[in-house]
Amino acid sequence: MKKILVIHGPNLNLLGEREPGVYGTDTFDSINSEITELALGEGIYCEIFQSNHEGEIIDQLHLARKSFDGVIINAGAYTHYSYAIRDAIAAIKIPVVEVHLSNIHARDEFRHTSVIAPVCVGQIAGFGKQSYFLAVKALKYIFEENKTDE
Ligand code: DQA
Repeated sequence: MKKILVIHGPNLNLLGEREPGVYGTDTFDSINSEITELALGEGIYCEIFQSNHEGEIIDQLHLARKSFDGVIINAGAYTHYSYAIRDAIAAIKIPVVEVHLSNIHARDEFRHTSVIAPVCVGQIAGFGKQSYFLAVKALKYIFEENKTDE
């Protein structure tokens, strides 16, 4: 069974109470349960990690390269300026899908730039919690594609 890691960056632990008009009212825990259930339904084992600290996110990316087949990352505000997270993603060989609940391109100017996008396999933004579900399906698609390449 393929294994994926979902990494949530800063402030995402407050989902449900944080700016509900932007990020929705579903709680962090309920979204995570839905992601892991949906993944299982797709035949994929899923673990969740959240941190408000850049270095911890980098450590998890390093660890993931040995024990997971793919990563889904919502790096929160680090998306827009963390070259260190970008370098960590570039350093690992497993596919990393960038996710955002909101459409970052339709928001404040500083959110229009993602410094991690060029080193991710793709970006999914603007679909609320569905962005994560679509990312699971994107990884499944990548796994299937690689199988046919073998
Ligand atoms: C976010 C968008 C970021 O700009 C913001 O800093 C977040 C959440 C999103 O999921 O829409 O923390 O990544």
